Amino acid sequence: MNWKEEYRRKVSKPADAIKDIRDGQCVVMGHAAAAPRLVQQALADHCEDYNDVLIYHMTTLGDNPCYKPRCFGHFRHVSNFLAANSREIVERREGDFFPAYFKDVPSMIGSDIPCDVAVFQTTPPNAEGYCSLGVSCDYAKAAIHAAKTVIVETNEMMPFTYGDTLIHVSQMDHIVPCAYRLQELALPEPGDVELAIGRHCASLVADGATLQLGIGAIPDAVLRSLADKNDLGIHSEMFSNGVMQLMRAGVINGSRKTLHRGKVVVTFIMGTRELYEFVDENADVEFYPVDYVNSPLIIAKNDRMISINSCLEVDLQGQVASETIGMRQYSGIGGQVDFIRGASLAREGKAIIAMPSTAAGGKISRIKPFLTQGAAVSTSRNDVDYLVTEYGIARLKGRTLQHRAEDLIRIAHPDFRPQLAEEYERRFQTPFAL
Ligand code: COA
Repeated sequence: MNWKEEYRRKVSKPADAIKDIRDGQCVVMGHAAAAPRLVQQALADHCEDYNDVLIYHMTTLGDNPCYKPRCFGHFRHVSNFLAANSREIVERREGDFFPAYFKDVPSMIGSDIPCDVAVFQTTPPNAEGYCSLGVSCDYAKAAIHAAKTVIVETNEMMPFTYGDTLIHVSQMDHIVPCAYRLQELALPEPGDVELAIGRHCASLVADGATLQLGIGAIPDAVLRSLADKNDLGIHSEMFSNGVMQLMRAGVINGSRKTLHRGKVVVTFIMGTRELYEFVDENADVEFYPVDYVNSPLIIAKNDRMISINSCLEVDLQGQVASETIGMRQYSGIGGQVDFIRGASLAREGKAIIAMPSTAAGGKISRIKPFLTQGAAVSTSRNDVDYLVTEYGIARLKGRTLQHRAEDLIRIAHPDFRPQLAEEYERRFQTPFAL
């Protein structure tokens, strides 16, 4: 059948598209800015028609209608990366978190993560009937292959992106044509602390390096400090507006990349509308599934690979907690360990964890004798390499427990150094010179 005819036959209203979803089934939803907003709204509007439907997605941006109290009891949510809204759902026991590396999600879909229905957002079809997954490639193809029913919102405002992002109309069961603005991520303005951290990180970045950056004030501050570098490349789980600015300035050109030379490689992006317009039909940016982008073996093919991630706290042995505050699940592991391992395997690679020295307005030191009770270790002391705060850089790889503790105390906030030194003296039976 001609794809145009097929497209027309499959066009549905959101409320009709969701009629195939049965009680007890699992629905895998598109990620972040590519979340299928109209289907989410239709599910929320008709939540009384459903019981015990499990909804899986990675992180969510802004408001999710299925999280509204009226949906409680009808949907359960499961995710391996929490944001502000999904954290609240988990705290209310309307959902739960499972620990998993982001790169493993595609292989878990269809088995550990059942997938009866896949709901995604794409562009409208091109001349051959292919739609692009746009700003989120990550686990979409895995879900579309595994699902019995595939519902797709073909959004005219979704950018058409390159790499491995194409889905054909023939792979879809219900198509919801639409035109709405993608959800945007407010950009944090880095303060003095973040800018100081950014400068320290930038001092570890040589010309020709390939970078992975997480999200938030610190990656943005690092990018601002890289304006005088040359020939940088990007191989990253995600990126935001800062990368676009350095691409425009010619600082990021990928000319010395040893894998995908000349291309920025990513699995998803979150940022403002300007960023989404920038990646539209932009052949310099390639999106691939997360099991490829976040594979340590693929990451390691980039010579001079530098990963820059953040964390919540670190103990004096160098154990890093990036996703929990005590027993509270705050976010998820994402690609942190995969990029640390990939960068460590790469020729001339470096793995950086960067964080402000304190939290809660300076009341808490993030460098602690022990991790908060209940905290999960995200990056083990065996994987940790560089740790950076606004007070400097500690290289932990190859350092003994005693030397690690010394180096970490030196980059802790001065207000907390005396109590850390006390613990050092107890532990190592040696005075610590503050
Ligand atoms: N004890 C108590 N509270 C703490 C804390 C600690 N040790 N550390 C942080 N907090 C508080 C902060 O004060 C802040 O509170 P506020 O929102 O009231 O100001 C909140 O927790 C968040 O901390 P912050 O450091 O601002 O978080 P962030 O938004 O910069 O995100 C991570 C940092 C570590 C959560 C985030 O980078 C992450 O999830 N990393 C793991 C995954 C990853 O690295 N992915 C990268 C691959 S793309």
